[in-house]
This record gives sequence, structure tokens and C-alpha cells, in this order.
Amino acid sequence: MTVTNKSQLNIQTLKTQRFPMATKLTVLSNGSLRVEGEEIELVDAQGNAYGLGGRQRISICRCGLSKQKPFCDGSHKGHFEHDATAFDLPAPKPAV
Ligand code: FES
Repeated sequence: MTVTNKSQLNIQTLKTQRFPMATKLTVLSNGSLRVEGEEIELVDAQGNAYGLGGRQRISICRCGLSKQKPFCDGSHKGHFEHDATAFDLPAPKPAV
């Protein structure tokens, strides 16, 4: 296809550009926080990235028992109870 002007170029760019899947976080009952996405970046307190080996799905520990924090290692099983049911947070307080 021949692009003849700038707006056609923008449309062509949008048609061919690959948008990553939005990252989805799922709070699992009695377990971890599952993170799914095409491009997951997880960094430590200093901003250094964890090597995820190209994974598009990871589980983050919520119970504090994992020996591989921040990742879930299954230690929560039988030791962590939380019924993950969605609710609405109140509106944020206005900035002062
Ligand atoms: S949530 Fe799985 S080990 Fe903590």
C-alpha cells in the first residue's frame, strides 16, 4: 500500500502497530495476586527489574509466607484466608 499523506500514514501506523494486552490483576481467594499481561515489568524498591523469563503470567504473594517473595511459592495453602470479593473504594481525598 502506498501512503500519500500524513493522515494516511497515521492510520496505517495505527493499523499495523501492535498494542500490548492490558495488564490484568486478579486477587485470588485464599491465595496470591495473579498478574497477566504481554509486557509485565516488576521492579524492586530500587527500581531494578526482576527477571521474569518472558512470562506473561506471574503470582505475587499476599500472605507473607513465601520463601521467594515477592512471588508466590504455594506456601499460602491452608495458611491464608481471604475471600476476594470486589468492592468500590471511596473517592480519593482532594489534594491539599
Ligand atoms: S500468597 Fe502464595 S505463598 Fe503467599
